[in-house]
Amino acid sequence: MHGITLPQSGWLAAGFDKNARVPMALARMGFGHVECGTVTPRPQEGNPKPRLFRLSEDAAIINRMGFNGCGIDVFARRLERFRVLQAGRNATLRAVPIGANLGINKIGARPLEDYPFLASRVGPLADYITINLSSPNTPGLRDLQSAATLRDILQAITRANVTLPPLVVKLAPDLNPESLSDIVEAAVEGGAAGLIVNNTTISRPHSLRSSFAQETGGLSGRPLAQLSLQMLRQIVPLVQNRLAVISCGGIESGFDIFERLRAGADMVQVYSALIYHGPALVTRLKAELLKELYRAGFDSVSDLKSSTR
Ligand SMILES: Cc1cc2nc3c(=O)[nH]c(=O)nc-3n(C[C@H](O)[C@H](O)[C@H](O)COP(=O)(O)O)c2cc1C
Repeated sequence: MHGITLPQSGWLAAGFDKNARVPMALARMGFGHVECGTVTPRPQEGNPKPRLFRLSEDAAIINRMGFNGCGIDVFARRLERFRVLQAGRNATLRAVPIGANLGINKIGARPLEDYPFLASRVGPLADYITINLSSPNTPGLRDLQSAATLRDILQAITRANVTLPPLVVKLAPDLNPESLSDIVEAAVEGGAAGLIVNNTTISRPHSLRSSFAQETGGLSGRPLAQLSLQMLRQIVPLVQNRLAVISCGGIESGFDIFERLRAGADMVQVYSALIYHGPALVTRLKAELLKELYRAGFDSVSDLKSSTR
């Protein structure tokens, strides 16, 4: 489908294993896919601490990490080592795809050169590449989501003539709904295989109760769920099955996954729920999703997916 293989419905979203330190441990936890990164061309410290806030009353997180990370050289070396390790493991672990999520440095960024450079470094090592244009904590990054710039970035990557796995573009939930159609067309024309809908939001729902609610940064977790579902419902009819759609934002139960799949998502990703519920989350989500599927009369995720086409 769309040049991207989606054998499992649940992925770990980017930002948890920013430096590709523990993809094997995460694969063992039962995630269908693991997305490492965001990785930038050069190492950088990220924003000063505190930069991460638990909004426990709201089952949410605000982060302004700012792409703290080891840079592409160390990241690529770790992925290389992971691949060797993975080749020697059992069939289940060998089958877990690894995504590499790419971003730009805060200082000295040249997106039209940086993204092709990063893609050339991880292209042979990753099962898919995510072009992150949507984190709110790198000045100017989200401006790259304009249709014209997105097309230019994707074309610069595909023209670089390097080994490339499928390319996925990660979008912000704060985009003007009227811009979505042009963005989808740019992604298709630029040769993308999928969209991740979505990253964290800079909006602050009135329902937030935590004293951290007005901290600067991207909000994730439960309060993002409705916004994320709404954006998914706007994007799916525009995509018309030309791109894989990966839904991300506020997913914390099997019912949430079922709802996203029914709304037209091909896959889902989670992050904040893992922070609140720990590794047992993965098994619970799978069991709950199965229950929801059976309750609705479907035998499998693909059975449900074929009913939404
Ligand atoms: C602490 C933290 C760090 C994150 N870092 C990244 C990142 O480096 N790159 C990225 O694309 N998304 C990053 N994200 C966003 C998540 O991948 C995800 O899109 C977002 O949190 C919404 O999903 P959730 O509500 O399940 O957490 C981060 C999220 C959190 C909470």
